Amino acid sequence: MPDDQRQARIVDFIAKLTAALGPKGVSTDAHEIEPHVKDWRGRWQGSTPVLVKPASTEEVSKAVKLCAEFGLAVTPQGGNSGMVNGSIPYGEVLISLKRMNRVRNIDVLNDAMTLEAGVILTQAQELADTNDRLFPLSLGAEGVATIGGLISTNAGGVAVLRYGMMRDLMLGIEAVLPDGRIWNGLRGLRKDNTGYDLKQLFIGAEGTLGLVTAATLKLFPKPAVKETAWVVLDTPAQAVELLARAKAASGGAVTGFEIVPRFGLELVLKHVPDIRDPLPSPAAWRVLIELSLPRPEGARDMMESLLGDAAEAELILDAAIADNEAQKALFWKIRESVPVAERAHGKALKHDVSAPVSRVAEFLERGEALVRKMAPQCDLIAFGHVGDGNIHFNVTAPKGVDADAYLEGEGLSVSKAIHDLIMELNGSISAEHGIGKLKRAELAWRKSQVEMDMMRAVKKALDPDNRMNPGRLL
Ligand code: MLT
Ligand code: ZN
Repeated sequence: MPDDQRQARIVDFIAKLTAALGPKGVSTDAHEIEPHVKDWRGRWQGSTPVLVKPASTEEVSKAVKLCAEFGLAVTPQGGNSGMVNGSIPYGEVLISLKRMNRVRNIDVLNDAMTLEAGVILTQAQELADTNDRLFPLSLGAEGVATIGGLISTNAGGVAVLRYGMMRDLMLGIEAVLPDGRIWNGLRGLRKDNTGYDLKQLFIGAEGTLGLVTAATLKLFPKPAVKETAWVVLDTPAQAVELLARAKAASGGAVTGFEIVPRFGLELVLKHVPDIRDPLPSPAAWRVLIELSLPRPEGARDMMESLLGDAAEAELILDAAIADNEAQKALFWKIRESVPVAERAHGKALKHDVSAPVSRVAEFLERGEALVRKMAPQCDLIAFGHVGDGNIHFNVTAPKGVDADAYLEGEGLSVSKAIHDLIMELNGSISAEHGIGKLKRAELAWRKSQVEMDMMRAVKKALDPDNRMNPGRLL
């Protein structure tokens, strides 16, 4: 279609959209649109002819029906805190779900709450808390990430080893399909054996099958006490052994088990204010352990004997158990500041990989050897969720070279080698950040033909015209 015709169609579309949703639901104001068309790290810049801001599922449905009528593609967006270039429009109609932020229902005895897609994660956590329950999803971007985005990216974070990823926290879903129809699958059932579990299709679909508008989420008992320790050790293999002991000693109450390399800690100390090293040591690794327990009695003893036994078995070199909330906050702040400190240090090749927990130590050892050999002038910052087998294995561009050119050029062979290694270990090239545009091409050749065929068949069945976040994921 010639440009002027396309432009006239867009003008017509916006007029119809404004008539359907009212002026509050539509914006073409460049200033308002600006933060929605770039990512928070400043890596990608997109554009959109219009920002749609529906306030209800019916309004989402009207907007999507109009997009279908005009043959326009859609990019859905939540908090726009994603990592893989999945939620920025490149010419698509942008639908932000942020105004859909109502609590629909909280059913305490059913341990469930139903929230709209635009509710922010911290608000969801607080709502659970005021109802004497826990909503366990917890991650760095929790102050901006929305329920809809967390579902669409199947978010992970720091409590996955005990509670699972977003996929595991869902009972029901409401979604608007590419043709604009509303599917109300907001069931609060733990048992529902009536065929395909269709909600699972929308979880981690990155907006490619429709728009998630609401969800029924699982709630958990609030732990009475958390014991948090900072541990110094020599090797990743010791960390994995310590994890197994922690699970056994606590009856499965390990809710956090995160690894930080000494270099990552040094960067945090250098770049982040108000941090001190809890246990200065030349040893190579630190682990943060969190146990969440239903009773305060015996909790401290449990952590103490776990660490005492580990020290006796020469698994760990040193450990500090937090005596108060400020110390707990310090341990977590160190861990959660690693990505920020890394960014201050310089641009890096990012690898969000996972392996079976039993092979994480092998991955870290072989991965480090590979980086030292292929890119001796680069720094390695490998940290994260050992308890889930998920490591953020980041390699900085060498000092003194054009970092962007390195990341797009020579660095790609380092990334390929790291991903080859993770595949050899039966791992994944994207453990928690998803695919988006960033890893789409690699996914297509890393996954088997049969797996790609099944994914494409699902996509074609639900979105035959490829109008839902096209060019992401698939
Ligand atoms: C984290 O675990 O801190 C994040 O997923 C990693 C990141 O922000 O790069
Ligand atoms: Zn992570």
